[in-house]
Amino acid sequence: MSDTLTIIRPDDWHLHLRDGAMLRAVLPETARHFARAIIMPNLVPPVVTGAQAAAYRERIMAALPEGMSFEPLMTLYLTEDTDPEDVAAAHASGLVKAVKLYPAGATTNSASGVSDFTKVRAVLEKMAEIGLPLCVHGEVTRADVDIFDREAVFIDTVLDPLRRTTPELRVVMEHITTSHGVDYARAGGETLGATITTHHLIINRNHILVGGIKPHYYCLPVAKREEHRLALRAAATSGEATFFLGTDSAPHTDSNKEQACGCAGCFTATNTMSLLAQVFEEDGALPNLEAFTSKNGPAFYGLPQNTGTLTLRKAPPSYPKKILTGEGEVTVFDPGYPLTWEVASA
Ligand code: NCD
Ligand code: ZN
Repeated sequence: MSDTLTIIRPDDWHLHLRDGAMLRAVLPETARHFARAIIMPNLVPPVVTGAQAAAYRERIMAALPEGMSFEPLMTLYLTEDTDPEDVAAAHASGLVKAVKLYPAGATTNSASGVSDFTKVRAVLEKMAEIGLPLCVHGEVTRADVDIFDREAVFIDTVLDPLRRTTPELRVVMEHITTSHGVDYARAGGETLGATITTHHLIINRNHILVGGIKPHYYCLPVAKREEHRLALRAAATSGEATFFLGTDSAPHTDSNKEQACGCAGCFTATNTMSLLAQVFEEDGALPNLEAFTSKNGPAFYGLPQNTGTLTLRKAPPSYPKKILTGEGEVTVFDPGYPLTWEVASA
């Protein structure tokens, strides 16, 4: 068996870069290996208008170290006040590649999200008309729904009705965590895609809770039972066009993670390609890594594949355990076992 693997340079279809000092520290971690990423708009305040997305894009490009190349694919944060014409203009100019739906209160910085879906109907219809994808954080937020059931209930009570009402709308189910999500995505036809994170291929809920609480494994949607992790692995490694990588790499400082009410998010930008190569190899699916990281995403978004390549080599990778940022240290996701693939060149 060959001990190197060269693939088309990958993209990350769901990434949190934050702003300011955090942005400057984490951006190189992604740009080192990835050509493009869909940039989440959940800043404080959120990126709602085309003008705000343009300004955020400028800040990202200004934070990119010399000699690195990276293309941020901007998104707008959908609110009940979003103007369909502003969305259409931001799409027409080439700036915005998706609109992000957070149910109000679902996750970090989602207070401005949607509660009443009738209020966003006109925006969704416009998006269907112009072919602009909706990226969906698929969890209900009702207090009476158990956190481990929130994805499945969202699919049945929100996502499926929404797609029936607007069948032309292109939808990305983001960071799916359950076999229900896998099954629904698979049956959804060419208007439906799904991203899967790196960490959800590696951890289940025991990793978070057994033997002491592990704040660095806590993210939203929260990792589920082992049977769901296995369904995600089968989907990701299948090569099927529906499924593509969205790391959901979500940096929070250690002081914000390791406390009585710790923030949700796993930071995987630094070692994602090493982690994924090992996952795919373990499942006998290394030839499908390129589909998951570099082909299926561009195909769904109607964008060209990257022209550059990334080469992995069978060797223990070396990277820092923590990234130093102007806001404090950020812990890099630790799978709890030694890694066996390094990125040799990108
Ligand atoms: C994300 C964040 O920190 O912004 N956290 C997370 O656990 N994934 C928000 C999100 O994508 O849900
Ligand atoms: Zn996210």
